[in-house]
Amino acid sequence: MKTSRMSVKELLQSEDCGKEVEVKGWVRTKRGNKQVNFIALNDGSTINNIQVVVDMEKVAEEVMKKVTTGAAVHVKGVLVESTGSGQAREIQAKEVIVTGEADPEKYPIQPKKHSLEFLREVAHLRFRTNIFGAVFRIRHAMAFAIHQYFNDHGFYYLHTPLITASDCEGAGEMFRVTTLDPKNPPLLEDGSVDFRQDFFGKSTNLTVSGQLEGELGAMSLGKIYTFGPTFRAENSNTTRHLSEFWMIEPEVAFNDLEDNMDLAEDFLKYLIRYALEHCMDDLLFLSKRLQEEEKDKKAEERSMELIEKLQFVLNHDFERVTYTEAIDILKNSKQNKNGKFQYPVTGWGVDLQSEHERYLVEKHFKKPVILTGYPKEIKAFYMKQNPDGKTVAAMDVLFPQIGEIIGGSQREEDYNKLVTRMQEVGIPVSAMSWYLDTRRFGSAEHSGFGLGFERLLLFVTGMGNIRDVIPFPRTPKNAEF
Ligand code: 4AD
Ligand code: MG
Repeated sequence: MKTSRMSVKELLQSEDCGKEVEVKGWVRTKRGNKQVNFIALNDGSTINNIQVVVDMEKVAEEVMKKVTTGAAVHVKGVLVESTGSGQAREIQAKEVIVTGEADPEKYPIQPKKHSLEFLREVAHLRFRTNIFGAVFRIRHAMAFAIHQYFNDHGFYYLHTPLITASDCEGAGEMFRVTTLDPKNPPLLEDGSVDFRQDFFGKSTNLTVSGQLEGELGAMSLGKIYTFGPTFRAENSNTTRHLSEFWMIEPEVAFNDLEDNMDLAEDFLKYLIRYALEHCMDDLLFLSKRLQEEEKDKKAEERSMELIEKLQFVLNHDFERVTYTEAIDILKNSKQNKNGKFQYPVTGWGVDLQSEHERYLVEKHFKKPVILTGYPKEIKAFYMKQNPDGKTVAAMDVLFPQIGEIIGGSQREEDYNKLVTRMQEVGIPVSAMSWYLDTRRFGSAEHSGFGLGFERLLLFVTGMGNIRDVIPFPRTPKNAEF
């Protein structure tokens, strides 16, 4: 009978006990005695290992010596009901072939508890641990769910450029893209670099956001979304910032701020529900790990259990609050009065720090919050100006543990107001003529937002550091691998 290779996931669910099977994977652990050995084998298809039972009379000792943690093996045998491995199925080996050895003296991922910091140093191998297997399977599932959600809701996936000549957020935190010789660039008379001689004939950078081009798409296709890498040269060494992160940016013509908030809430809840429905094995593993980590903490300091936390967000309406109300709450909070904020809240107009966002979510409202109506001075030029002349139709979605997970707004559709604002904040109007054309021809109200993909993953996985939810993190002074 011809056997065919199956994944560990398929084998663990198979009804075909007694069948000849083949599996290939990496050894997690091996234990046993002179008569019988047990190999825990994993191939990445699931958090669970399949146990391979090896009768030492059937397989050469020389071969079994090479079966060490991290080695790649090919097993042929019979699938049987398991009695002891904690799984429903195991394999009785007939043949074990070691296809790639892993010298136990040198292989860094040994079967013991490694710190996340250490695993970051060997990020090229950390996928082989349970924890990173779980994180990156969930990352995949969330990416898939994002496309699923938008496809089901009539959005088109728009590919916006990574190289641009504009600064969407106007914060000047961009990585320059150039082919000029850094040692000897062509200069203008005033001593500045002559970018007309650069590759694109002008100064270009990696995009901080696909929004501006996304708006162009929405103003004809109706509903679009982008999903791609974005780059920020901000020198923020925190557990929530990356220099290269992935962002999802839906943009919808004819949506106002209210519609935008509804979309953001529905979208986030869909993704969390998807994780609960499709990633339970991995979530349970991550939850157990978190609980173990926190077991020495006092009860009141422990965070909500991971799955409970996801269900909690799913089952509660997000609190919709204005910036002005939030400032009142923060200013009058005990925390503020007792000087417990690193950045004291002095009054209307200040930008909110992560500690303020988390106070609102975790201490005051005790659920996700959508803040609207920020002062125009602390938000980007493209946001719709409110009739009060002071605030804009911005919205930030704030989550427990994370702070800001989404930033978005209704866009200014009035040509004159937009141009005036651009001039006020020093955005070159003539270079942005293409953007302004949507306001010149057939302008309409429209809205959108950006969800930081890694911030979403921090929330769903319960991981504490954003460097641990992207395969190869880029942060200030770090572009390893
Ligand atoms: O609030 P931001 O800067 O908004 C924009 O870029 C808009 N153009 C989005 C839009 O309206 N289409 O960024 C959006 C989100 C943040 O809420 C946060 O989740 C994430 O992107 N983000 C980061 N994630 C990781 N590392 C960083 N350095 C991030 N900066 C922003
Ligand atoms: Mg923001």
